[in-house]
Amino acid sequence: MKLYAELADWYPLLTPLQDYVEESADYIAALRGALGDAPFRLLELGAGAGHNAHYLAPLTRELALVDLSPEMLKLCAETCPSASLHLGDMRTVRLGREFDAVFIHDAICYMLSEDDLRATFETARAHLRPGGVLLIAPDYVTETFEPTEEVGGNDGEGRALRYLGWVWQRPDEPNCYVVDYVIATRVGDATPVVHQDRHIEGVFPRETWRRLLHAVGFTLEALPRANPDDDRPLDLFLARLVG
Ligand SMILES: C[S@@+](CC[C@H](N)C(=O)[O-])C[C@H]1O[C@@H](n2cnc3c(N)ncnc32)[C@H](O)[C@@H]1O
Repeated sequence: MKLYAELADWYPLLTPLQDYVEESADYIAALRGALGDAPFRLLELGAGAGHNAHYLAPLTRELALVDLSPEMLKLCAETCPSASLHLGDMRTVRLGREFDAVFIHDAICYMLSEDDLRATFETARAHLRPGGVLLIAPDYVTETFEPTEEVGGNDGEGRALRYLGWVWQRPDEPNCYVVDYVIATRVGDATPVVHQDRHIEGVFPRETWRRLLHAVGFTLEALPRANPDDDRPLDLFLARLVG
């Protein structure tokens, strides 16, 4: 995906750090509720630019970030200077270390099959102490998915970005959807360069989440969360590893 490779340097203009203040407050509340007030050890899988992790870092005594993209991990080095950074796939990575919590934000949407989801839950289990928690915030579950479009972008120093994210679904593929990005980047007053990037993302019913989490050894609480962009409730899965 171009957005996480050759366009990664532009990512902070597509979705800036300060946009995550409100959203990360939901994750802080969920993690504090599950683990209490003491600093904890946190692993994020698919950490992207580390934007959520930046706001979660003060809660932690150890923070590890995993991503498939070296370019995105470079951004994490700036947003989360105290974190350890690891190149890896959330389905297979094994750090050989134990954490109190594993967090996965929108990167979970790149899991396209039940096997992918299950493998990711197994990665979480492999890194959690008994009684540790897995917090996952997918963009959609099947029950909340609807075709839509996002338009946005920001101005930076001497450069600017605008984008359209066009979200749609093929009728014969209920467990995935397409996000077609059209991204215009402008340096100085030059004519913008237009990039296209198609992302295929997974979406599953709540019952599938529940079944797979239980199969891997978690007990599940599903919490509603408020989307900062609209009033539609989104799902936030908080699962505890059976001790
Ligand atoms: C939308 S970004 C995440 C942004 C992040 N929520 C933040 O706060 O900055 C999605 C990230 O998922 C990563 N990703 C996609 N598939 C992955 C996989 N199988 N394992 C690990 N990371 C993955 C991409 O490289 C990308 O950096």
